[in-house]
Amino acid sequence: MHADELFKEFRETSITEFFRKNRAHLGYSGRLRSLTTVIHELVTNSLDACEEAGILPEIYIEIKSLGDSHYRVISADNGPGIPVKHIPDVFGKMLAGTKFHRNIQLRGQQGIGVAGVTLFSQTTTGKPIRVRTSTGNGKVNEVELMIDITKNRAEILSNREYSEYWRGTEIGCELKGVKFSLREQGPFEYVRRTAIANPHAKIVFVDPEGRKTIFERSSEKIPKSPVAVKPHPQGIEVDDLLNMAKKTKARKVSSFLISEFSRVSSAKVKEIQERVDFDLNKNPRRLKWSECEQIVKAIREIKFLAPPSEGLVPIGEEQIKNAVLNILDPEFDAVLTRPPKTHSGGVPFQVEVAVAYGGHAGRNVGDGVKFEIMRFANRAPLIFDAGGCAITQAVNSIEWKRYGIRDYENSPFTVFINIVSTHIPYTSAGKQSVAEEKEIIKEIRMALMEVGRKFQTYYSRRRRAEEREQKRQILMKYSIELAAGLAKLANKNEDEILKGLHKLIDKRMLDYITEEVEEGREEKEEAEMDDLFIENSDQ
Ligand SMILES: Nc1ncnc2c1ncn2[C@@H]1O[C@H](COP(=O)(O)OP(=O)(O)O)[C@@H](O)[C@H]1O
Ligand SMILES: [Mg+2]
Repeated sequence: MHADELFKEFRETSITEFFRKNRAHLGYSGRLRSLTTVIHELVTNSLDACEEAGILPEIYIEIKSLGDSHYRVISADNGPGIPVKHIPDVFGKMLAGTKFHRNIQLRGQQGIGVAGVTLFSQTTTGKPIRVRTSTGNGKVNEVELMIDITKNRAEILSNREYSEYWRGTEIGCELKGVKFSLREQGPFEYVRRTAIANPHAKIVFVDPEGRKTIFERSSEKIPKSPVAVKPHPQGIEVDDLLNMAKKTKARKVSSFLISEFSRVSSAKVKEIQERVDFDLNKNPRRLKWSECEQIVKAIREIKFLAPPSEGLVPIGEEQIKNAVLNILDPEFDAVLTRPPKTHSGGVPFQVEVAVAYGGHAGRNVGDGVKFEIMRFANRAPLIFDAGGCAITQAVNSIEWKRYGIRDYENSPFTVFINIVSTHIPYTSAGKQSVAEEKEIIKEIRMALMEVGRKFQTYYSRRRRAEEREQKRQILMKYSIELAAGLAKLANKNEDEILKGLHKLIDKRMLDYITEEVEEGREEKEEAEMDDLFIENSDQ
């Protein structure tokens, strides 16, 4: 065929059309995963919106069965609401939102989440999504809309406005080809984990059987609103730099660098100037690719202060502890928030971990309980794609046996890990696993080792107390026979002898405790030395 013939087929595709055909990219693959993805998109948006608006979230999720593989999902929040003029773009346009263009720690990043829900709903049922929202101005809008796939924009089917004082957003949609299950990867577990990582949120979940679970908040403290931070120069690529230079209001490259990046001072600009062969007083809009290459190269050679960490909002040790106690009710728990670090050259991040043992900790499998890893990124649970995730890799690289957990895979043990960052390096748009950046893995390992040692101290103490009690019982049992024998031989009062023997046993027990404390100290020191050795040999 001639090229002219072939090129008759040449046409552009809209982003929406692309995702309609490739919905697995957005997490819509498999019946269970698709349903969980819908819940994920709705819940993360509600939490993000409340966090930015400084509202204590109250979220309602209901899943109703309408037939075989056919469900209706309703979500509602008490968030800031959506201004009426933005409703079409929020729900009917992909790559539109308030987050993508800002360097900010939120759960959403790309602006394809809820439009993805609209798209999935309409392509499986042919029905529109229903939205009721108000910003609390006395006007409520009820809108039904679909996406015009070829144009990547909303098609409004109805819009009813009425007066009522209420604030928040309620979304209703129908889905086919999905399945509800209480399993680990299902919506219920997703919501339970969300409640653990968001102790300030109250979440009500109603499953298709009509069972209502209320996850009460364990903290009334609204998390600090995340703030957008400027990018750190060391995380920048040539293409980023050129793009930013085209958009800047600054008149000189020098002031552009100072104003649009964090940690670039005039002294640093001088250092850059010494390394490039053109004048940094030139207009940034005239920067050429080769000049940007020179700047990036210079930046890589220069030392900068670490990025500011005020853009990071960890959950906090106290809050995690409350949530873990509230939901897992464990026998033992240890929580740790590490100081901020950077990945990929200059992106700030921070790691938080918790371990819980006993109580409702661990994953229920049949009659038994297994070791469980709960992964989170910016407080949103990561449920799928565990295999290729930095968090899983870090947890599995720990030798749990060294911390006294003999058969760790079959222990009631939950490891909770949350990474917060202004940019989580996800491995795909489905946002279910974190790329294996070596700084991230290292931080998780350091945190786990520290809580591991705390567990070890607790666990060996518990084990020893059990052993001691066993010994005591044996001695007590024999003391009775011994007292009777001795009384006969010496012709003395049996009760007196028994009392004497019990005193001896008590004293022996005290000696054991002193020995154990000493042993425990040695074990702890040994573990610390081992960890230090392992960390250093990693580098
Ligand atoms: N429940 C909600 N309350 C307020 N605003 C919302 C809500 N859901 C979505 N939005 C707005 O819609 C935008 C698009 O959402 P989404 O498609 O999920 O993308 P992202 O969350 O990645 O920005 C958000 O950035 C936010 O501004
Ligand atoms: Mg979102």
